[in-house]
Amino acid sequence: MKRLSVLGSTGSVGSQTLAVAAAFPDRYRVVALAAGRRVGVLAEQVRRFQPERVSVADPGAAEALRAELGGQSVEIDVGAAGLEAVAVHDADLVVAALVGAVGLRPTLAAIRAGRDIALANKEVMVMAGALVLREVKARGVALLPVDSEHSAIFQALAGQPPDSVERLILTASGGPFRGWSVERIARASVEEALDHPNWDMGPKITIDSATLMNKGLEVIEARWLFDMPPSRIDVVVHPQSIVHSLVEFSDSSVLAQLGLPDMRVPIAVALAHPERLPLEVPRLDLAATARLDFEAPDRKRFPCLDLAFEALAADEAAPAVLNAANEVSVAAFLEGHIPFPRIAAVNSAVLAEHIQRAGGAPLRDLDDVTAADAWARSRAEASLAAAEGEGR
Ligand SMILES: NC(=O)c1ccc[n+]([C@@H]2O[C@H](COP(=O)([O-])OP(=O)(O)OC[C@H]3O[C@@H](n4cnc5c(N)ncnc54)[C@H](OP(=O)(O)O)[C@@H]3O)[C@@H](O)[C@H]2O)c1
Repeated sequence: MKRLSVLGSTGSVGSQTLAVAAAFPDRYRVVALAAGRRVGVLAEQVRRFQPERVSVADPGAAEALRAELGGQSVEIDVGAAGLEAVAVHDADLVVAALVGAVGLRPTLAAIRAGRDIALANKEVMVMAGALVLREVKARGVALLPVDSEHSAIFQALAGQPPDSVERLILTASGGPFRGWSVERIARASVEEALDHPNWDMGPKITIDSATLMNKGLEVIEARWLFDMPPSRIDVVVHPQSIVHSLVEFSDSSVLAQLGLPDMRVPIAVALAHPERLPLEVPRLDLAATARLDFEAPDRKRFPCLDLAFEALAADEAAPAVLNAANEVSVAAFLEGHIPFPRIAAVNSAVLAEHIQRAGGAPLRDLDDVTAADAWARSRAEASLAAAEGEGR
């Protein structure tokens, strides 16, 4: 019986993780859950899985959860300390499915406590990939990718000699604006940006998919997860999202992992590793799929992809800067404060300012990451305020 803790249990990945665990009650016991403010969903999960410990974002949410649960007894923690309490709770595997920078400290705490990690929260690797890997090696824990692209690469690499790997090829759906003109994209509404053609995901990653920032973040994630220089990571647009990513080897062979777009599959791969679960999900029918298309990404219409490569080329703090600027600009777009193209403009301006002022110093510790993150957030806020002042 594997004991599971889930950080971000009420989210898209978190709830699908619980669905996979619930399908195999003889294999998984859910022991701890952390969520933010969706107390109704969390209460339902607590009733169903009877965890030993839960955490919510703040005291108000804790109060609401207690009221929802009536007399049911469960340890309820709050805030950053609550996330860490769930992260280090006695478990075999911690599923890191928070969104954004908030996941960094609890994920590191889980690693330091010797827990294996199933990682969906890509921002953790984007912000502090080098630091995270150092801790993973020092503690001898497993870091299992949940992102479908990285899971595909992880599966294609299994059993292959590491020095035979030549290139990682990440596939991108291209998002909802793949065929749109620059002018049309400039007028895109929040609803249009949230309307992803293949995947049903949380709002932040869905906007990141529309800007291709998500693919950029995944390039950075892959750089660290697979210790691959950025020059050997490519991106190809594949609108059907059937080929989840590929690896090219020294003899020119290319191995891919295919399947219908369904996050329960990469989640199950991470939960069961090194075994596989007999998952009851729709199966790929290649004849019915009929065709698989591929094209180069349009880096002009979607400049966020190149920002990720620029950040990787700059210094260790630059990806954290880009990530923080992006969290601020995406939140502003989702709140209706800025038009879609300003997301890339803000990200680009903050990254450029960082590159100009920074001396390429490495990230020594978490404080350096936090400082880069805080600086970038304040610069992104300033850039948004300046644009607002100019009526843009
Ligand atoms: N969704 C996908 O299919 C998918 C695929 C690949 C990778 N990913 C990656 O997986 C991660 C999660 O994505 P998602 O789509 O599942 O996101 P999501 O649906 O927005 O869920 C985010 C989760 O984090 C919790 N959370 C957010 N801020 C919090 C805070 N301050 N304190 C405590 N909990 C907090 C939310 O709680 P409440 O909702 O209760 O507030 C929710 O449980 C992201 O890094 C994303 O890039 C997602």
